Amino acid sequence: MSSILRAVVGDITTLHVDAIVNAANRSLLGGGGVDGAIHRAAGPGLLEECRKLGGCETGDAKWTRGHRLPAKFVIHTVGPVWRGGTQGEADLLASCYRCCVEIASELGARSIAFPCISTGAYGYPREEAASIAVSTVCDTILRYPAVREVIFCCFSEKDLEIYQTLLNADSER
Ligand code: AR6
Repeated sequence: MSSILRAVVGDITTLHVDAIVNAANRSLLGGGGVDGAIHRAAGPGLLEECRKLGGCETGDAKWTRGHRLPAKFVIHTVGPVWRGGTQGEADLLASCYRCCVEIASELGARSIAFPCISTGAYGYPREEAASIAVSTVCDTILRYPAVREVIFCCFSEKDLEIYQTLLNADSER
């Protein structure tokens, strides 16, 4: 039985899933965008736990508990800053999605929600980022079937449309 992949529009901090992914920076000490929203909703215990992680490299991921969030875990990943596409951005972004699915599986998480990593402050073009997100998750999930459900949590209708087109194309393959 294959895993379910779907896209929704909403605030990732409200989702009742086992793990949500944070689009963080290398310090893992908070920031704006989805990172700021996650820290606000989780409360100060999250920052305290993050301080012990010693930061994170671009393309990698580390996990904490969810604290006051409905999600049990937060998987913090650091997407690449868009520098025109010639600095290994695509590989680094794919690595973020791969690492997060691997960690979710290690944690025994059956459901995981991703924001559109790197497409806000880090400037990654939305269509290209979404295409990497969907193809990487589709490939990776085959090796981690215990992760039953993957939600791409969009923050705009435009992103939702992009993901739905990609997911529909994929299910017709
Ligand atoms: N729920 C879901 N998606 C959201 C939410 C939310 N509550 N808030 C924003 N987004 P960004 P990045 C979307 O900038 O580009 C931070 O300061 C947003 O519309 O949060 O990876 C970090 O500390 C966009 O589509 O992350 C880093 O310094 C997506 O989340 C830096 O920004 C990602 O936008 C990381 O930049």
